[in-house]
Amino acid sequence: RERKRQEGVNLLELSASFFRERLKMPEGQGARHYLAERGLSPEIQAAFGIGYAPDEWESLKRHLSARDIPEAVQIEYGLLVHREESGRTYDRFRDRVIFPIRDVRGRTIAFGGRVLGDAKPKYLNSPETPVFHKGRELYGLFEARQANTRLERLVIVEGYMDVVALAQFGIRNAVATLGTSTSEDHLSRLFRMVDEVVFCFDGDRAGRQAASRALEVVLPLMIDGRQARFLFLPEGEDPDTLVRREGAEAFVDRITCASPLSEFLFDQAARGRDLARIEDRERYASQVLAAIGELPEGLLKSLMLNELSRRTGVERSRFETLMARYGSGVG
Ligand code: GTP
Ligand code: MN
Ligand code: MN
Ligand code: MN
Ligand code: MN
Repeated sequence: RERKRQEGVNLLELSASFFRERLKMPEGQGARHYLAERGLSPEIQAAFGIGYAPDEWESLKRHLSARDIPEAVQIEYGLLVHREESGRTYDRFRDRVIFPIRDVRGRTIAFGGRVLGDAKPKYLNSPETPVFHKGRELYGLFEARQANTRLERLVIVEGYMDVVALAQFGIRNAVATLGTSTSEDHLSRLFRMVDEVVFCFDGDRAGRQAASRALEVVLPLMIDGRQARFLFLPEGEDPDTLVRREGAEAFVDRITCASPLSEFLFDQAARGRDLARIEDRERYASQVLAAIGELPEGLLKSLMLNELSRRTGVERSRFETLMARYGSGVG
């Protein structure tokens, strides 16, 4: 089993260097131009090991096969695509900028590839493989730990480009989930490394939905001493576009001022409701109470109950009774 893992790791490292080499060659000119247009310096490209997959059907396949890597293994690790109908095999990543995805120890475990233009799909990821589980990994985590001797907080963003653009501006503590929503697995891993996470999703509908989902996932993990905060970007912006527009200092200010979980929770429950009306207040209270019910026992939970009581004028003991009666299923 361990030998198999080693085999995969070698193959992935070989592929990563292949992509990096190709970026430097004449065929990588378009990709170099694209990366420069997006404001990424050669230093940042190197820090993230960014490369280029040539516009050919079998260039990586030839490279790996010449190094005695069986096609079956190339397929297993997602580098080659196998077409059942024709029996043909060809490179998965073609004519794309390549972002290696590394595990916390810096070993390449998968790749993400972006088209240079507007073609679809915009991003392509490695499939699930023996070493890559999309729902677990975070892009940029290794690089964040490399760049900081002591990490205090991590900023969770949506995209590869957001991580790399923030790094370009000296904000070297961003990580991205890989096109999946933030999972409990992701967050428990992050909380083993830092006490504070800041969610910073795109300023669009999808981003706001992602924030609500993230809230649900993070609640049970909020043991005392941990912090989760939520940063909302202006409509149409993502961290990449915003840091370019405003610069690093303004973006750091936004991170510093991000709403704490408690505030976001109350704000979100108040949205679209008229709290002068009793029925709306009832819905508001039960939504907040349901969320509080998800918090682990501790000071935060207790303080949130006090605050809910203060905001609604309902005695705290009433909420405690309801919470005991319904468990976490209130609302
Ligand atoms: P840029 O256009 O390069 O700035 O991309 P972005 O990082 O802003 O991406 P976007 O906000 O569109 O999407 C966020 C993340 O979702 C990306 O980084 C990808 O991980 C994922 N994603 C976006 N489009 C696709 C797609 O077409 N296929 C897959 N598999 N994932 C995608
Ligand atoms: Mn799996
Ligand atoms: Mn988006
Ligand atoms: Mn985006
Ligand atoms: Mn973007």
